[in-house]
Amino acid sequence: LPKSKSFINVEDRGYQFSDGVYEVIAVRRGVLIDSSEHFDRLFHSLNELDIYIPWSQAVLRVLIKEVLARNNILNGYVYLQISRGVASRNHIFPEQGVRPALVILANGLHRVKALRTEGVGVHTLRDNRWGRVDIKSISLLPNVLAKQKAAEFDCYEAWFFDDDNYITEGASSNAWIVDKMERLVTRPLGIDILPGVTRFRTLALARAEGLEIQQRRFSVKEALSANEAFLTSTTAGVCSVVKIDGHPIGSGIKGRVTTLIERLYKNYLESFSIGS
Ligand code: PDD
Repeated sequence: LPKSKSFINVEDRGYQFSDGVYEVIAVRRGVLIDSSEHFDRLFHSLNELDIYIPWSQAVLRVLIKEVLARNNILNGYVYLQISRGVASRNHIFPEQGVRPALVILANGLHRVKALRTEGVGVHTLRDNRWGRVDIKSISLLPNVLAKQKAAEFDCYEAWFFDDDNYITEGASSNAWIVDKMERLVTRPLGIDILPGVTRFRTLALARAEGLEIQQRRFSVKEALSANEAFLTSTTAGVCSVVKIDGHPIGSGIKGRVTTLIERLYKNYLESFSIGS
């Protein structure tokens, strides 16, 4: 449907209960970037919530390609959302036979990049999300509130910290530092962070480059005194963090290791062409 003619049923469980999941996938020269990892995560999210969809991965790929083609998009992002479906409002799952509701949107690249190339500021906040944030649920209220708070502090991102003051992740990205020993550090996967696809790709690229990596927790305090910091996400790519809670990180400008990682990821995105 044309976007102006599309609609959400008022009894869609996504709308009433946030009972659904989503993915955001980057598209470059018509290629869905790291699509297998995105589909694996989508099916993980669906399985964990007992949402059973009638579409195979192959069918979803065809539908996505069709939406991209009809919107004439070669470079941009696909937003895919699946809710448990439409049923009269009742917390327990609807009767079998209620079909999940699928939404696929495509948008071109229209991000303001200027500010990001210089690096961004981050504001830290206590992580007040539910206990299963490895599921990419559409329930994003804590993330919305955190990013709003960050914006009020003139920051692009909010970094959540857990009860022991260790950073979990960003409100819409994964968190990284380059520690005093020049090692890349990011929190290990678990139920307390989203397994970011950009995180996965960055780890692979850094490993191939021979960089030293530690998947371990790091505290707000360690982040403040780190050599460098950065964040990763599908929409932001690799983005330098030059300030945390108003304190400059390292020399306060984008560091050497972050610049390298950013370039590796950019080259990776640019290596795709139709047919690959
Ligand atoms: N954000 N953590 C959270 C809470 C997120 O919402 C996201 C993604 C990530 C990074 O995951 P990935 O690298 O797979 O995009 C981590 C959406 C997609 C975004 O705003 O970009």
